[in-house]
Order: sequence, then structure tokens, then C-alpha cells
Amino acid sequence: MPNYMDQNLLDYIQKLSSIFFKMSTICNNQSSFILSQNNIWKNIEKTGRKSVRFQYVTPSASLSYQSSTKTANKSCSSFSSTGKFGKFGGKYVPELLVTCLSDLEEEFYMALNDAKFQEELGTALRDYVGRETALYYAERLSEHYKDKDGYGPEIYIKREDLNHGGAHKINNALAQAMLAKRMGRMSIVTATGAGQHGVAAAAVCAKLGLSCTVIMGRLDIERQPTNVRLMKLLGALVKPVDGNYKDASSEAVREWVGNLDTSYHMPGSVIGPHPCPTMVREFQSVIGKEVRKQAMEKWGGKPDVLVACVGSGSNAMGLFHEFIEDEEVRLVGVEAAGFGLETGYHSATLSRGEVGVYHGSMSYLLQDDEGQIVGPYSIGVGLECPGVGPELSYLKDNGRAEFHAVTDEEALHAYKRLCRLEGIFPALEASHALAALEKLCPNLPHGTKVVVNCSGRGDKDAATVQKLDQLRLSTAMVRENNTSNSSKQLQTAIH
Ligand SMILES: Cc1ncc(COP(=O)(O)O)c(C=O)c1O
Repeated sequence: MPNYMDQNLLDYIQKLSSIFFKMSTICNNQSSFILSQNNIWKNIEKTGRKSVRFQYVTPSASLSYQSSTKTANKSCSSFSSTGKFGKFGGKYVPELLVTCLSDLEEEFYMALNDAKFQEELGTALRDYVGRETALYYAERLSEHYKDKDGYGPEIYIKREDLNHGGAHKINNALAQAMLAKRMGRMSIVTATGAGQHGVAAAAVCAKLGLSCTVIMGRLDIERQPTNVRLMKLLGALVKPVDGNYKDASSEAVREWVGNLDTSYHMPGSVIGPHPCPTMVREFQSVIGKEVRKQAMEKWGGKPDVLVACVGSGSNAMGLFHEFIEDEEVRLVGVEAAGFGLETGYHSATLSRGEVGVYHGSMSYLLQDDEGQIVGPYSIGVGLECPGVGPELSYLKDNGRAEFHAVTDEEALHAYKRLCRLEGIFPALEASHALAALEKLCPNLPHGTKVVVNCSGRGDKDAATVQKLDQLRLSTAMVRENNTSNSSKQLQTAIH
């Protein structure tokens, strides 16, 4: 049962924080805390209470969280000092890491409420990353989805592909690198799949004078050579490990644990133990905040439907978070169905996964009957994640967001469709969000404002698309000769 903090303590904390920092609830029975000033904590300790929930205000937006002890509320994000979103999230880590994570949490909230940090971040996002990114009216794509009477939705594309580095990943990488530097951690270790987060991390480390180690699976190194070259040019050490992103992310945590005093582990998505999902979500939420402002400028209202691809969930949460409480705004996440959900070759954690604990938090995962992680697959390498973020898991369970899955084939068509109709080459990851329009659009009322997040650019994928086109051609020829099974050939070739 929650206890409510007495007014004296509230006043005291507000004075101490002196910035936009408000406490709302104190609850029993929880083991960790979020505070930006140790003296505040000492006073709370005197009250014998173990954890704190609060509301804080950043310069750019006001974010409020509800106690997770309340019944899951469809319209609200749920958050506590243990980083729980309903039953999801948490901090399932060895004792050794608890202090590190608490230090990170403390620094994160201090930075959020530090006007100087926010100003520096805002300047770098504008002048280095190139924000705000455009909200582009895709006229010919909208035309494509109109019925014979000329009715259909209006499609807008949030151009995260225009960020420096070519993806949304830099929003988070930049802010975390600044945080690491603020904590005196001059050595960054991270893992990447498609390489977009690796490129972003390498770039911001160069900018801030930090050393950068990027762990990457050998399979992904083969599939994303352009990004590997870029990371190296940007001064990062790219360390190969056997396997793919799943294996790289485990190795990155191992590497970090070996150097806890000097190194900083930089998650590239909304996963991992608390505070990582909240922190990455917060740094990515600039996407949705811009969309709200741009929608108001362009059509004087809110978007009706938001669509984003889901790997681990950072671009989706970045877009959705701002609108979670606007219940009339439909939130649509699109996962990778790979060769098809029934084939076992997919990355559809929310559509087909089960709840479990992985890399320090609870969420939907691809796992076998014994709880072992099952390797994900997608043509969009960045979507190959065995687990999805806890907040998205929560939004699925409480029904606030809906999730669809599209196949490699559908994503490839969407990639080419956007190239031909709008002259924009989306990343194969983002192509999954675009592919979902095929099923969504015919059922949307005329004039519906749909915003699709183009999470990254697809020049890194051009060779894959071309190779698959050639393969399809030769498979079709083989099929004509009735000598083999075409889909088997395609699968072998992709692997
Ligand atoms: C362009 C792009 N979009 C989407 C993703 C998926 O990640 P997330 O679900 O965290 O946005 C990636 C991952 O590498 C990516 O590179």
C-alpha cells in the first residue's frame, strides 16, 4: 500500500532541488532509489521509507509517471524507482552492478534537470545531429493509397533518416556520451546490430574525445560492411564476436563488467536493467515531441496514427511516448515477420514471444521451452533483437499500442516503393513500418493523418536489396525449370 509523503518533506525536497523537481509519492517495499542529491536521500532514509516516485519537468517537456502500484492504466506510462512498467522492466542484475546502475540513475536525473546540460544537448542536437528533422508530406505515397474515388489517408514521414549518421540512434548516443563524460567515464563500450548505433556511438565519441569499442557479430559485420568501415574511420575499435547482435550485446556487457570503474556501457535501445530503458526512451522522445509541434504547425492538430518499426523499441518509444496519454492517437508498432511467423525465422517478440528476463529486465522475448533465447531473424539486421523493451511490452499488455508483423518480402517492396514514389531510400528496418501501410491504409477514413517514422536511411541496404532482386530472378528461372524450391534457396542465400 502506498504511503503519501508529508508536506514538510515535500517542501524540503523542492527547496533542495531548486529546479523543476517534484516528488509525488513514497512507497514501501522497494529496494532502490532515484535521487539527484544524496542529502535528499538521507532525509528520506530517516523516514524509514525505501523508495521514491516523483514527477520531473525537463526544459522541453513535462513528464509525469504514475505509481506502478496502481492498476495498469491504459492511458499512462507506469514508472517506479525500480524501473517497472507494470510487471515489466526492473533491475535483475548481480549485486556488483547495482551501485553502478544507481550511480547512472542519479547522474541521469541530475543531467535531465541541469539547464546547462540540456542547453548543451539541445545545441548539439541542432548543430551536430541536424534536428529538428522534417515531417515530410509524402504526396505520391498518399496518392498510392487513395481509392478510385480519390479518398484515403494523408501520409507524413518523420525523417529520422536525415540525422547525422543516418538514423535515430544518434539522439540517444549523443546524450549518453555526454552523460558518460560528465561521470568521468572516458571509455565507451557498446554493441551494434545493423551498425547504425555503432556509427552513432563512434561519431559522438570522436566529437567528445572518448574512446569507443563497438562489439559486433561476425554475421552482421558481413551484412553491414559500409557501417563497419565508417565506425573504423570514426576511430572506433570494432571487435568481432561469433554470431549476431544477441551475442554482441552479451559480450559488451561482459567487457563493461571487466572495467566498471573506467568504462561506460552504452545501450543502443530501450532495453537492459533500469534505468536504461527509461533513459534511452527519454533521449529518443525528442522525435515525438517534434512531431506534436510539427503536426500543430502543419494541420493544427495531432496525428491520428503513428507507425514505427520495432526491433528493441527505441524509435517506436521515441515516437509514441509523447502521445501515450492522447488516447485518440493510434500507436502502431511493426515487427519483423522475416520469412513468415510460422517459419520460426522472424524477430516478432511482441507477436510471438513470451515473458522472461533477459539482460537485466523483464519483457517479451523469443525463447524456447527451457527459457533459452532463440536467435531472431530479419532482413532488417537492426530488427534482429531477441527481446523488446519493457515499456513497449507494457503498452502491448494494456492494449494502448497495437503490433503487426511484416515479412522480408513486404519490407523489400516497401523499400523500393518509397525509392520510386518519393525519392527517399529508407533503411530496411524502417521499411517494415512503411510496409504496414499496405494493410492499414485501406481501412483508414479519408484525410486520416498518418505519421510513419523513417528511422534510418537505406544506402547501407542497397546492396542487399540488389542481391535479393538478382536472386529472385534466378530463383524464378530455377522454379520455371522445376528443379528446386525457390524459397529454400532464398533463405540459404540470405543466411
Ligand atoms: C534504422 C534503424 N531502425 C530501427 C532499428 C531498430 O531499433 P529500435 O527498435 O531500437 O529503434 C535499428 C537498429 O539498429 C536501425 O538501425
